[in-house]
Amino acid sequence: MGERIAVFGAGYAGLVTAAGFADLGHQVVVRDVVPEKVDALRAGRVPFHEPGLEEVIARVGDRLRFTLDYQEAVEGARFVFVCVGTPATYSGDADLSAVWTVLDELRDLADGAVVVMKSTVPVGTGDTVRAALDARGLTHIGYVSNPEFLAEGSAVKDFLEPDRIVIGSFQEADGDAVERLHDGLDAPSVRTDVPSAEMVKLAANAYLGTRISFINEIANVCELVGADVETVAWGMGLDSRIGTRYLQAGIGFGGSCFPKDISFLKLLAGNSGYHFQLLNSVIEVNELQKRRVVSKLQKHLGSLRGKTIALLGLAFKANTDDMREAPSIVLASRLLAEGADVRTWDPVADASSILRGVTFAETVLEAVRDADAAVVVTGWDELRDLPRAEIRDAMRVPLIVDGRNVVDPGAARSAGFTYEGIGRASTSPLAGLPETDEPAIAEHSPEA
Ligand code: UGA
Repeated sequence: MGERIAVFGAGYAGLVTAAGFADLGHQVVVRDVVPEKVDALRAGRVPFHEPGLEEVIARVGDRLRFTLDYQEAVEGARFVFVCVGTPATYSGDADLSAVWTVLDELRDLADGAVVVMKSTVPVGTGDTVRAALDARGLTHIGYVSNPEFLAEGSAVKDFLEPDRIVIGSFQEADGDAVERLHDGLDAPSVRTDVPSAEMVKLAANAYLGTRISFINEIANVCELVGADVETVAWGMGLDSRIGTRYLQAGIGFGGSCFPKDISFLKLLAGNSGYHFQLLNSVIEVNELQKRRVVSKLQKHLGSLRGKTIALLGLAFKANTDDMREAPSIVLASRLLAEGADVRTWDPVADASSILRGVTFAETVLEAVRDADAAVVVTGWDELRDLPRAEIRDAMRVPLIVDGRNVVDPGAARSAGFTYEGIGRASTSPLAGLPETDEPAIAEHSPEA
């Protein structure tokens, strides 16, 4: 039969969490305040791009329901999951207003009900919430911090096959109850106090961001000394103390989590009297990394005024339509400031309300037509075979700047492109290239 769970917030984390618990056999009601979102979900449509999520929602049937109504959500619920957004404020601190709106509304909960915080919050939030609940006489309600580690694009898999489940509680029994909700998942539980659970989340994201800034700096040095960052990352990563993941050099990290959580942690430390020096560098390296693409283009094209640059991929990473903190936003506005004409293409992200003054193309071919350069901004799989005759012939200048290192430099070279990646040697086209070279391209097409 499972437990009755109310989930507040139908964003990425809320929906995946809700669908995941329903898949484990629980009865879940998701409450959101946006009527169109709830209508879409009731009709079986997920209002954003997340592979596999619609399938899970379809297979769990009426174990997962959606409502606008508070009472309907909490009716008989033993667990109330808070999964609302915690964006950064102007100062970079966490905006917890949506969290407090949910908490302030809590009433009519059964004895022994547990409020579970999934939203990413600064360390110390749990203590503040506990005190606020107690002050309202809600001492019979438990509180647990259970941070999420769902990456967009692989969130369903991350829920069903987690590396670990982190549970921070004030009362052991509340933590036990939340741990049991996860029965059926094969992962160790980390049982701890509330501040430590809150810190695990911030520290994990900040560490992953630090690895990315680190490998990006290694990449920048590789370019100067003639080394190849892809090989360097592989060689480093095979050391079991290091590991190969999150060592992909590129044009910097984005998304709704890393930039914000690194800023939260830096400010949390600062507000607590500690100067977190390393994180300043992580942030600065990331900002500069987005802009390095502009100098790579200038190296080949000189002034960018009047040049047409195709930005291929807009989402902050592949397999999502999320534009939050996407490097494409900074890059597009830098290029416009340099006087370039900017064309863009993305298979799923709709950036029309975010990017002004750029042209949106329906296909890669349309985006690169008469362009002076094609920049791979998001590592979409369909960009791996960018170095094709059709693309080369359509471009005014066959130049690829690969911000994600997804294109095979050898294939680009044989197909007649000048290629510039991140932390890789740049290559020029092979001399004596045939006029049309379909066979040569087929021979050199990159591995999947
Ligand atoms: C991240 C974490 O991976 C999740 O564990 C966490 O739950 C989530 O934040 C969150 O706090 O909610 P997400 O932001 O969806 O997930 O995406 P990631 O796949 O981690 O990528 C973040 C950024 O880093 C992207 O811009 C990506 O392109 C970039 N990245 C990632 C690199 O540049 N290199 C890498 O090696 C890996």
